[in-house]
Amino acid sequence: MKKVITYGTYDLLHQGHINLLRRAKELGDWLIVGVTTDSFDLERGKMNTCNNVMERIEAVKATGYADQIIIEEYRGQKIDDIQKYGVDIFAIGSDWEGYFDYLKEYCEVVYLPRTQGISSTQLREGRPMVRIGVIGTGSIARRFVPESKFVNSNAIVTAFNPNIEECRTFCEEYGLEYSETEADLYERCDAVYVASPHYSHYSYVKNALNAGKHVLCETPFVFSKAQAEELYELSEKKRLVLMVALKTAFCPAFIHLVSLLKSGAVGEIVEVNASVTTLTDESSEKLNKDYFGGSMNENACFPLLPIFKLLGMEYENINFYSKMKNEVDMFTKAVFRFHSAVASFQVGLGVKTEGNLVVAGTKGYAYVPAPWWKTDYFELRYEDQNQNKKFFHSYAGDGLRYEIKDFVSAILSKEYFYSKVSKKENIKMAEVQEQYLRGESVYKL
Ligand code: CTP
Repeated sequence: MKKVITYGTYDLLHQGHINLLRRAKELGDWLIVGVTTDSFDLERGKMNTCNNVMERIEAVKATGYADQIIIEEYRGQKIDDIQKYGVDIFAIGSDWEGYFDYLKEYCEVVYLPRTQGISSTQLREGRPMVRIGVIGTGSIARRFVPESKFVNSNAIVTAFNPNIEECRTFCEEYGLEYSETEADLYERCDAVYVASPHYSHYSYVKNALNAGKHVLCETPFVFSKAQAEELYELSEKKRLVLMVALKTAFCPAFIHLVSLLKSGAVGEIVEVNASVTTLTDESSEKLNKDYFGGSMNENACFPLLPIFKLLGMEYENINFYSKMKNEVDMFTKAVFRFHSAVASFQVGLGVKTEGNLVVAGTKGYAYVPAPWWKTDYFELRYEDQNQNKKFFHSYAGDGLRYEIKDFVSAILSKEYFYSKVSKKENIKMAEVQEQYLRGESVYKL
């Protein structure tokens, strides 16, 4: 039996792909198609695919030409696959002419004619544009606008900030249309990025949803369970996307870490500990009680993410220990008791500590060095050091492009879209913040 193998992303599957698969199949008796994973595409700089790996696999399957579909997840895999599956012919489109000649050592290499006039890139460019308006023009918004340029099918078109001067300067700097009022902003866009001070998130998100706009809200989302539930309910009723921009959740290394640990890479997880501390000027709004300042409000959602993802949300209790100054917490340590595990985190704006993430299990532990919340690297460590493994991933630019990509895809996707931080997780984070603000099990130092 003559085996043929070919690879591709197969995003927005088109006639060019179908022709290529048909021609490849005609070369032999058994066609293996390698479809790239989302993280492999990200790693090789292909940020803009519209379909996720499952959708792309389904599309290839539907052509009826593939006898076997495999996933391609690392550079160099082609040599391994050719040997592993006993492949006779490697086939690829003529746009790659010469590039894969190194595989001739392992099998026959055939470059098939490429169909002219069509490509995924062209189709992506023809997709509708999501026009995004930015609410709040502070430092995170300044990072967001340039990052959005790396993602397809979106354009930041306008911004709003009640501080007119600041807003004008921001709009001029980034070439955006200036919105004098919140209503003006909603007129000009399909979706909003809420990057205003924490205390204003709830009302902006609610107004935007009521105006029929999709919302990407910066962290912390809101400070009460009821508010979080209400906003999700509203978004569902209006069939709008509501996402929280918790950037760690979209970080390729973090996603890989969680799936490795969930599949037992360090045995049963018994402890999760994470810290996020950033020494901050005391005059900053981040430490102002009236603006929902303080270490918990500012940073708790980051360590809550690995705790919830790895141990779940059914903890038995939480105790908080806070070092206070001017009625806000300069530092808080939180300890969670789960049925058969424990978790803790440290957050600080006025106290500094090592900002790493350690997950301890019955067979070993995971170590993610600071800054773990935007990492490109982690290690799995074992008693027998020969088994230790290091993992490297790309973390491009400021990392916001990953969440922007998901937000835009969720808006354009007609079907179910998997959200990297679930509704349940976001609601639970708001509940933890609320418990802390109520002073329940908070011990002041
Ligand atoms: N292909 C083809 N004819 C086209 C487009 C793609 O024969 N018009 C082939 C490619 O040469 C490759 C396979 O289809 O062998 C999968 O390519 P892929 O990169 O997924 O598709 P493109 O449309 O080229 O994607 P992009 O525009 O993102 O590069």
